[in-house]
Amino acid sequence: MILHQRPRILRSSPAIRSLVAETIITPNDFIAPLFIDEGEGILTEIASMPNYYRRSIDLTVKEVKELWSIGIKSVLLFIKCKDDLKDNTGKEAWNKDGLMQRSIKAIKDAVPEMYIMTDVALDPYSSYGHDGIVKDGEIVNDQTVEALVKMSISHAEAGADMVAPSDMMDGRIGAIRLGLEQNNFTRTGIMAYSAKYASCFYGPFRDALDSAPGFGDKKTYQMDYANRTEAIKEALMDVEEGADIVMVKPGLPYLDIVREVKNAVDVPVSVYNISGEYAMIKAAAKMGWINEDKAIIETLTCIKRAGADLIATYFAKDAARLLS
Ligand code: PBG
Repeated sequence: MILHQRPRILRSSPAIRSLVAETIITPNDFIAPLFIDEGEGILTEIASMPNYYRRSIDLTVKEVKELWSIGIKSVLLFIKCKDDLKDNTGKEAWNKDGLMQRSIKAIKDAVPEMYIMTDVALDPYSSYGHDGIVKDGEIVNDQTVEALVKMSISHAEAGADMVAPSDMMDGRIGAIRLGLEQNNFTRTGIMAYSAKYASCFYGPFRDALDSAPGFGDKKTYQMDYANRTEAIKEALMDVEEGADIVMVKPGLPYLDIVREVKNAVDVPVSVYNISGEYAMIKAAAKMGWINEDKAIIETLTCIKRAGADLIATYFAKDAARLLS
């Protein structure tokens, strides 16, 4: 055969493959989510997330030190709220001495360089397990936004570098930006969960925080997975309202959305490689059906190839180790 093009030439050895590789992941790309619990010396494995844990603050600080030492630059904090502090206002969310606020301070004290992001949504604090305030069976928007603003300011006060609203209420990014400005938090960033879909893949996360909705589902605020155009609209709105970073979530089944959003916005795009995606790889690996290490690196590389500038992933630590 006489061919003008032989694409296999560029695949013929590890050297040439690495020379032409378009996408390279490094620990700089990762955000490590952390689940925090009350108490001391607490380390609880999450049943549906093997080798992932909920930790008390002391052990969280230890973990953050380790993450920093292997090159992870950011953590995303989630707390498990005690049942007796949950209500329908979410007021524990902006308690100065709440678990989140104490965690932020403890981490900042121990590892000041670590970039701290915090989840902003009412679900861990809600007696209904919803991301907002409930009235007559409905998740009310504007009153929820007021609560989210208070929550964000309180995280900034405690020392968070960036707040990450994951609630999908309308207008919350603009309101949070305004609230931060009015309170002089001019260095606090906003990572907006802009295109967050109502997904069954959040199941293991809700186990981790005991935050499953008590009635109904989250379809009146999180997006319908049948839709694409809406994701671009949401991302553009959030940029307009003041988001520093926009997020697409979940990751793997939504990589088309990641690319669309990446092409549409002029801010970094983050992707959340969520709990269900973690659980699936762990389960298949446990069965001996896939190679876990290879699955981790392939997954994260593909998410970055799709357009992710940052990736929130429960594999952050494993991947950093595998890459070193
Ligand atoms: C809470 C929140 C959720 C996740 C991040 N923030 C769950 C939900 O919306 O029900 C999911 C993360 C994951 O599954 O890993 N608003």
